[in-house]
Amino acid sequence: MFSDKIINWYTENGRQLPWRDTDNPYYIWLSEIILQQTRIEQGRSYYERFVKEYPTVSHLAEASEEQVLKSWQGLGYYSRARNLHAAARHIAFDLDGMFPSTYEDILSLKGVGRYTAAAIASFAFGLPYPVIDGNVYRLIARLYRIYTPVGTSQAYNKFEQVLMQLIDRERPGIFNQAIMDFGSMQCKPLGCDCTNCIFRQECLAYRDGVVEELPIRPQSVKVKERYFYYFDIRWNVPRPTIVVQQRGEGDIWQGLYELPLYEVERPIGDSVLLERLGEVLRTWMGEAPRNLTVGPCLTHKLTHRTIKAQFVQAFFDCKPTKMLEKMRALELSELKSLPISRLIDRYLSEL
Ligand code: ADE
Repeated sequence: MFSDKIINWYTENGRQLPWRDTDNPYYIWLSEIILQQTRIEQGRSYYERFVKEYPTVSHLAEASEEQVLKSWQGLGYYSRARNLHAAARHIAFDLDGMFPSTYEDILSLKGVGRYTAAAIASFAFGLPYPVIDGNVYRLIARLYRIYTPVGTSQAYNKFEQVLMQLIDRERPGIFNQAIMDFGSMQCKPLGCDCTNCIFRQECLAYRDGVVEELPIRPQSVKVKERYFYYFDIRWNVPRPTIVVQQRGEGDIWQGLYELPLYEVERPIGDSVLLERLGEVLRTWMGEAPRNLTVGPCLTHKLTHRTIKAQFVQAFFDCKPTKMLEKMRALELSELKSLPISRLIDRYLSEL
């Protein structure tokens, strides 16, 4: 039987991971949200930090969003942290701290999709819902020689139907951990060791010599570029100071802090760069800086966007006569306590 074989394989070869030692739905939920777009090695330390800083769902609910974003700093895809916090508040304040225990109720939590709901339902509550992540798509696409492009909701339905026939109804949690580990450790994207695979007799892709063709990736979406000009505005009197502002709603990095930003549709040519940015700065600050210099240009890749960020450094002798309302002048040491985007963090640490 497929499920016995793969569970036996898992018992011998599966990875020891901290979230596998618990059936606490809150911890399992935390781990799955962290792992949604993060590699296990990186996710593990964040998971351990979250469990320590927020040992129960009420601790997470009672923290401020800014504090949660700060704990999340460096993981990227910050909407995960905001949804996590909103859902924790819902559980703590509307559901009396009781974690939802049916698949549908888990699925209705903010930031929880079908994969994550199936993971929590099976790992924490022993409910028979199969998980389908990239590793599982690959394993099943190969075993059954399925050419449907993966990652769409139609593909999810189709693979779910197949897995519903295979899942171990007595041990859905272990079954799910096993297919994820098998997909990631044995059924690798390239250079797969098929001659030593426990499924070499059954695998249709192996039989037909098409292992590395599968799974079929969906058409990739076109990545657009955005052009950011960041002003590193500072003065030293009376104390070393830098200007920051918080990102608003409805765009990437909502709630995170960054340097004052001027975004344009098309990149500004090098020959007019300082002149154009000098004008922008004068309208913002009411006066010209003593010094304006071109700093580094950093590229930051997101799933559907590439951000080209040009930094310019503006030194004033002391606090300028005016600032935009959203700007905050901070002493340099205060910056460490704010959640800032990875891009700004990279810039500051490269300086
Ligand atoms: N990736 C996402 N969730 C996982 C889990 N529970 N175990 C291993 N890898 C994962």
